[in-house]
Amino acid sequence: MAAHITVNGDRFVEMISERRIKTAVKRLARKIDRDHRGTVPVFIGILNGAFIFFADLIREVTIDCEVDFLKLSSYGDAKISSGNVRLLKDLNCQVEGRDIIIVEDIVDTGLSVEYIRHLIAPQNPRSLKVVTLLFKADSVKPGTHVDYIGFSIPSDFVIGYGLDYAQRDRNLKAVYRLHAKAPREKAGA
Ligand code: PRP
Repeated sequence: MAAHITVNGDRFVEMISERRIKTAVKRLARKIDRDHRGTVPVFIGILNGAFIFFADLIREVTIDCEVDFLKLSSYGDAKISSGNVRLLKDLNCQVEGRDIIIVEDIVDTGLSVEYIRHLIAPQNPRSLKVVTLLFKADSVKPGTHVDYIGFSIPSDFVIGYGLDYAQRDRNLKAVYRLHAKAPREKAGA
């Protein structure tokens, strides 16, 4: 039976185990290796959420690479996106002529990816790709392009493996989803 945890009084159930995450990270790294052989891409981690996935992914990648980070915020402490992406830390690397791989923990509405593309594309990278561990196919804005996806998931609120609940629980080893609240029983039923 899948593990349950309680966070801030809310019940969460394990959605993606540590073992399945490890397998997916290896699969994604192998694809990225194949597609970037002979190049030295720059992996750009989107802080904070991507930090664990980023660290695991680049250790599975075998080609030469560089790293940099962008820090964005769209959720604050809320469970749904504010719809307003803010840049909290810009890049330090030169983008022009480089193969750029954006590393996201989750693509939900797709607004962050869209924001990043608008930030990076005008700096003339040689190529620009996006890898995400989690992809919410039902919530994402139509036309949002992601090149590498670990798991397509329903639009549940998820935490763990870098994803937070009001900044906590990023250190959980698996991904957990908010457990559907039990329907209220009708009186006399
Ligand atoms: C989360 C996540 C992605 C973004 C995805 O970041 O890490 O960057 O939201 O959502 P979107 O597709 O709707 O834009 P958040 O703003 O929660 O900041 P955090 O990474 O510091 O947790």
